Amino acid sequence: MLTEAVEQALNDQIQKELYSSYIYLSMAAYFEAENLPGAANWMRTQHDEEHGHAMKIFDFVIDRGGLVQLQAIQQPPLTFGSPLEVFEQSLAHERKVSKSIHDLYALAAQENDYPTQAMLQWFINEQVEEEKSVGDIVAQIKMIQDSPAAMYMLDQQLGSRTIGAAA
Ligand code: FEO
Repeated sequence: MLTEAVEQALNDQIQKELYSSYIYLSMAAYFEAENLPGAANWMRTQHDEEHGHAMKIFDFVIDRGGLVQLQAIQQPPLTFGSPLEVFEQSLAHERKVSKSIHDLYALAAQENDYPTQAMLQWFINEQVEEEKSVGDIVAQIKMIQDSPAAMYMLDQQLGSRTIGAAA
């Protein structure tokens, strides 16, 4: 049985994961327009993964006998200045999501909700992976600077990402 506070926080997290998915879809659209299909593929894969994160919590709330109440999803950013800016925004976003997962874990601990803590352990590990993979791409783009040939190579590499694989 979920407490009211944990149920509300889980519903809030479903909204955040769906918004993450929406942001990555907007980033995919940007890369498609910039003729960087590999980076667009990376973002589409991330979009799918974020949707999967939302569904994991969705199913968990149902399994615990709680009520899923979907919330409005705000408009994502539509324009980006450069590929570097996109990945920097992605990193900043993932750091915010990590904080939100940690706050949720702390709440579950405070409420003695052990199943929610166990479920969130997966998310805590996943956020470490996500911050690392995006941080690595930010570092690579910084090294590339203005070399179109190097950006082409990175785009090829990003194009090989499939769901479940980091980069
Ligand atoms: Fe589901 Fe990227 O956080």
